[in-house]
Amino acid sequence: MLTVKDLVAGYSNMPAIHGISFEVKQGQIVALLGSNGAGKTTTLRAITNVIRPDSGSVTYKGKSLAGVPSYKMVELGISMIPEGRHLFPKMSVLDNLMMGAYSVKDKSLIQEKLETVYEIFPRLAERKRQLAGTMSGGE
Ligand SMILES: Nc1ncnc2c1ncn2[C@@H]1O[C@H](COP(=O)(O)OP(=O)(O)OP(=O)(O)O)[C@@H](O)[C@H]1O
Ligand SMILES: [Mg+2]
Repeated sequence: MLTVKDLVAGYSNMPAIHGISFEVKQGQIVALLGSNGAGKTTTLRAITNVIRPDSGSVTYKGKSLAGVPSYKMVELGISMIPEGRHLFPKMSVLDNLMMGAYSVKDKSLIQEKLETVYEIFPRLAERKRQLAGTMSGGE
């Protein structure tokens, strides 16, 4: 499904990853393990074209992702979830959840997914009008 081949990328002409290759098949969950500064985030940034790879290739469902802008990748189904607890603190809980569906056009699908999220995390339903920045860490 996702094939990364000989990917080289870094910052200011200084490579941080030196030719990484791996494959993610349909239905698989793949974890990248490495020490701090090893290049995990850089790998994801290069896959999503947040930084331009120096060389190598990334293909998704058989198509090259070279030059595809990051926001288009979200529509293809590739997205990065921020590290830590990044929210939009001045937006409501509901608006934060809706941000996760901004590329989905089908309103009934959005509603269905929202209900699923509320079922898993009932506290979010109770607090949907509250500013996200006023929730506790766990909430
Ligand atoms: N914006 C940046 N500008 C310059 N160098 C950077 C930048 N971001 C990361 N680096 C450097 O690139 C290398 C790889 O960093 P990266 O963020 O990919 O590591 P990581 O594996 O995600 O680490 P961590 O586990 O700490 O999140 C490190 O040497 C880091 O200092
Ligand atoms: Mg990282």
